[in-house]
Amino acid sequence: MHFFEGCTALITGASSGLGEEFSRQLAPMAGKLILVARRGEILDRLKAQLEERHPLLQVHVYVMDITREGQVQNFIGWLEREEIRINLLVNNAGVGDRGSFATGDWEKIEAVLSLNVVALTRLTHLLLPTLRESGRGAILNVSSVAGLIPLPYNAVYAATKAYVNSFSDALRLELRDAGVTVTNVLPGPVETGFSKAAARATPCSSHGPPDCLTMPAEAVVEAALLAVAANRARVIPGWKVALVMGIAVALPLGILRAVLRRRC
Ligand SMILES: NC(=O)c1ccc[n+]([C@@H]2O[C@H](COP(=O)([O-])OP(=O)(O)OC[C@H]3O[C@@H](n4cnc5c(N)ncnc54)[C@H](OP(=O)(O)O)[C@@H]3O)[C@@H](O)[C@H]2O)c1
Repeated sequence: MHFFEGCTALITGASSGLGEEFSRQLAPMAGKLILVARRGEILDRLKAQLEERHPLLQVHVYVMDITREGQVQNFIGWLEREEIRINLLVNNAGVGDRGSFATGDWEKIEAVLSLNVVALTRLTHLLLPTLRESGRGAILNVSSVAGLIPLPYNAVYAATKAYVNSFSDALRLELRDAGVTVTNVLPGPVETGFSKAAARATPCSSHGPPDCLTMPAEAVVEAALLAVAANRARVIPGWKVALVMGIAVALPLGILRAVLRRRC
């Protein structure tokens, strides 16, 4: 994928799942990778592996909680001091909270909102000047098909991803002449640490997504990067997931509600 040759990519949530996979797939093409997450020792191991496999690649690890304004400001200062100019921003870090809204723990709900909505928007806002200056900037927002429909027992998570979908589409239009593309990837279920992080101490009795829709992280990331390279607005990786969601969004809301009620 010529688009990524020599790029400087920032990947949030690089310590696990899709973020780690984005790092692995970008490594053979990128010039510099900036890996961000809270678990530094995992990022250090990933950096060592990637640099060993790709001797021309520079990997920087930056440990931070991207929901903390002070840490994000320090990060921006560090980028400036190091003269690192990001031209690919992968807004990947995200978390869920599976269970009823009524019994949810407020701290976790707030963490979902802070990470999936505020941190993604804040980082994009702070890095946009650099992305524009580069003349070939790209933003890849990792959303979810959960953002396409109201999803009981994932109510807040689904709503945050609906925000990401709307924000990405609108920003793409605003930036159409600015040399910065915006692509939104909407995965269905993927084999990562996500379910464990979203689970509560008392497991939720509602149905999860059918196993036949679950995809490996490799295929999701490959589809997302192809969509960025082709300057597509939106991609739903996997034909089965795309088909199911195509039907779901085409249903009248009353019928969709009835279907969702049966699955609760
Ligand atoms: N897996 C799925 O089924 C699925 C489906 C649709 C969409 N998605 C989306 O895909 C994205 C990646 O999720 P995943 O499946 O790869 O889950 P994951 O394996 O749990 O990875 C989440 C990543 O986010 C990082 N993170 C969490 N809180 C953070 C914070 N406050 N500051 C910085 N980094 C933070 C975690 O690193 P640390 O803990 O080290 O900070 C981790 O690297 C998310 O946006 C998710 O909503 C996932």
